[in-house]
Amino acid sequence: PIRRTTVPQIAARKGGEPIVSLTSYHAHTAAIVDKYADFILVGDSLGMVMHGMESTVGVPLDLMIMHGKAVVRGTQKALIVVDMPFGTYEESPSIAFRNAAKIMKETGCGAVKLEGGKRMAETIRFLTERGIPVMAHIGLTPQSSHVMGGFKTQGRDEDTWAIHEEDARAVAEAGAFSLVLEGMVEPLAAKITKQIPIPTIGIGASADCDGQILVLEDMLGLNEWTPKFVKVYGDLGPAIERAVGQYAEEVKDRSFPGEDEVYR
Ligand code: KIV
Ligand code: NA
Repeated sequence: PIRRTTVPQIAARKGGEPIVSLTSYHAHTAAIVDKYADFILVGDSLGMVMHGMESTVGVPLDLMIMHGKAVVRGTQKALIVVDMPFGTYEESPSIAFRNAAKIMKETGCGAVKLEGGKRMAETIRFLTERGIPVMAHIGLTPQSSHVMGGFKTQGRDEDTWAIHEEDARAVAEAGAFSLVLEGMVEPLAAKITKQIPIPTIGIGASADCDGQILVLEDMLGLNEWTPKFVKVYGDLGPAIERAVGQYAEEVKDRSFPGEDEVYR
């Protein structure tokens, strides 16, 4: 059997060949992403993308586990990282451990991700020392959008850089094996990437990071609106619309099912 990419293999890519990653929530698309990605994130963005929620705040643990299982089943090569949803890890290291262990045991994923810098360092250490690899996530952290007043690019004001740098150092020292930098101005992302010994994974944080991640449905053009940092690599929205429209026409004029699709 093909062995999956390991956490130490990802960590060892610091400063080397850029780490390729995408989100996936779904077995069939994950199988395609698996051919190219070093790791696949089952992100809590699935609440918005798959389930029409307004933010990630309402995503339950069971939903993360359900999609995590689908992605593990659909893949062979990539490290699978599952997001810990809001409310399942902030309260205490022991509650975080219980929920992270449940995610790992039930999905078969290789690591979890959680949002927060310095304030989550104790929890990151607690999990890592007990066998759960943690990817950290700072900068624009969508689970805190109610506190931040929306989704705002971080680091526009240079006076705030020290806080982000301190967050990055704290999670690295606590044992996180990599760090997502989301929605952050380029010079700050570059500075943090130089300062810490673990790979940074950028989303809206410039090519200076050690790797990149995008939400798959965003880069496939399936979302009507996408932020500036998304590049649309495949315009699947119009392609799906054409297919569905043609199907509807052919059902109505009875040209589908045709000769090829009928059991005689
Ligand atoms: O939930 C998600 O998709 C994420 C990535 C954008 C990093 O956290
Ligand atoms: Na997320």
